[in-house]
Amino acid sequence: MQPIYNKKGNSLECRNWDAEAALRMLRNNLHPEVAIDWQNLIVYGGRGKAARNWQEYHRIVEALKNLGDEETLCVQSGKAVYIAPTHREAPRVIIANSNIVPHWATQENFDRYDEMGLTMYGQMTAGSWIYIGTQGILQGTYETLAALARKEFGTDSLKGKFVLTAGMGGMSGAQPMAATMNEAVILDVEVRGERVERKVHEGYCDRMTRDLDEGLEWIEEARKKGAPLSVGLVGNAADVHPELVRRGVTPDIVTDQTPAHDIWSYVPSGKPPRDRDEYRIRAYESIVRHTEAILAMQRQGAVCFDYGNNLRQQAEVGGLRVRDNQGQFLYPGFVPAYVRPLFCEGKGPFRWAALSGDPQDIITLDAALLETFPEDTALHRWVKKAQEKVPFLGLPARICWLGYGERARFGRVINDMVGKGALRAPIVIGRDHLDTGSVASPNRETEGMEDGSDAIADWPLLNFALNAVNGASWVSFHHGGGVGIGYALHAGQVCVADGTAERARRLERVLTVDPGIGVARHADAGYPIAAETARQKGVRIPC
Ligand SMILES: NC(=O)c1ccc[n+]([C@@H]2O[C@H](COP(=O)([O-])OP(=O)(O)OC[C@H]3O[C@@H](n4cnc5c(N)ncnc54)[C@H](O)[C@@H]3O)[C@@H](O)[C@H]2O)c1
Repeated sequence: MQPIYNKKGNSLECRNWDAEAALRMLRNNLHPEVAIDWQNLIVYGGRGKAARNWQEYHRIVEALKNLGDEETLCVQSGKAVYIAPTHREAPRVIIANSNIVPHWATQENFDRYDEMGLTMYGQMTAGSWIYIGTQGILQGTYETLAALARKEFGTDSLKGKFVLTAGMGGMSGAQPMAATMNEAVILDVEVRGERVERKVHEGYCDRMTRDLDEGLEWIEEARKKGAPLSVGLVGNAADVHPELVRRGVTPDIVTDQTPAHDIWSYVPSGKPPRDRDEYRIRAYESIVRHTEAILAMQRQGAVCFDYGNNLRQQAEVGGLRVRDNQGQFLYPGFVPAYVRPLFCEGKGPFRWAALSGDPQDIITLDAALLETFPEDTALHRWVKKAQEKVPFLGLPARICWLGYGERARFGRVINDMVGKGALRAPIVIGRDHLDTGSVASPNRETEGMEDGSDAIADWPLLNFALNAVNGASWVSFHHGGGVGIGYALHAGQVCVADGTAERARRLERVLTVDPGIGVARHADAGYPIAAETARQKGVRIPC
């Protein structure tokens, strides 16, 4: 099988730029430098797929190539199912992934429907065609660790601090670079040697070893010098973490990004299981051992946080006590601990990609970004670091957390630049489903909400509908991303800036309401920062 590459430049294979952008972003999700396993259509996050199977992939491609300006392609869990007559300003594609009626929404049922060929696991940006590779989570991880440094250690840097984590795949592979960007040393345990090799080759991780003693020596040496260093250790977290506890090694910070949300993607320790039943039992045993070790390190003084993979919940399913007497998890998730104040300002993982394939378009936009927000020092620091360190893989892209008002403003700038010919082709503007107003996920984005509304899932539906009626280029509604089947509902949107006046109107509408419903959601839950943001920026909340 040959890998699929995008055509570069600005000549179209489709009848309009919206369909062309969807086609290029679908292909980009499966670019061999972007996806973790393109042959099986798996983009990232355990088994997060871009299309149901290769036959359906080709049907989607054909449908996009023929899609008219007044038509909308409906994609049901990775399969093209209907070309609806709509209108010019409607989304060109509407995607629904992995949704199951709540009472039936169990992993067992999902696996059965999957085997029957009825559904597909879309993760967040895999099945909604706006994944931009490991960079997509890098800034979030970098800012999360920076917030942790301020809150837990009262400093702006993690110099001399030791971070322990596991997983070095699509998203988890950002951890080594995010830690060293904060001047920490990090040991990242990954069970597949080739995944560590890939991240070292890309420049996301500094060194690789298969020997725990060697890894710890490197870590200790760098820590003493206060020099940043990332080490990828080939091993299973369910073996390495308990061994560290046994040796009395206590890191300063412990987190995890193995794909624990999906029992079939988490690799159990020991020899390969004989069948699915044995796999399931052994994977839960390993998750319990892995989490027990994290809790032991917490008791020894490590700052521990969950990094959005539902490890705590899976350990609880496996029989481990992970909650206190009030029912709260013994260590917090990253959103309530460090990220929620950003959500209250409508901030989240906004991003853009250059459809031209030309990295210069991103460099030109970086300069425009810094000029548009001259006083935002955190943004300037991020762009400088990203330019120095982040490789362009697949279509050149930039992740950039922007808030309410800022997204619409920069959308205008991008569209004007495309219109004036300052960029070689249109730009796609989108975001992760992990965002301020687009997700209900009680073990992650909406954990521990002030008003107890963690599991209320009206918000992502409102977000999805608002972006659709306001004319995003494509919109999506998914179940189970990040934390797994049964645990989350979330929505996505992508807009194409093609430089036209019509597009300027649509961008303004979508990039206003998309974070706007997030500010409203957090104000409604009782967060003063969100209420203040709404007051200052004119987000209208009925009194
Ligand atoms: N916090 C966030 O913002 C965020 C964002 C995206 C994804 N996630 C979640 O993070 C997790 C990782 O996502 P990803 O895209 O990196 O997934 P991935 O499947 O691309 O990579 C996970 C890696 O973990 C490794 N692994 C599996 N079991 C292991 C074990 N027992 N010990 C050591 N390594 C093991 C795998 O070999 C793989 O390389 C998922 O649960 C995902 O849903 C969180």
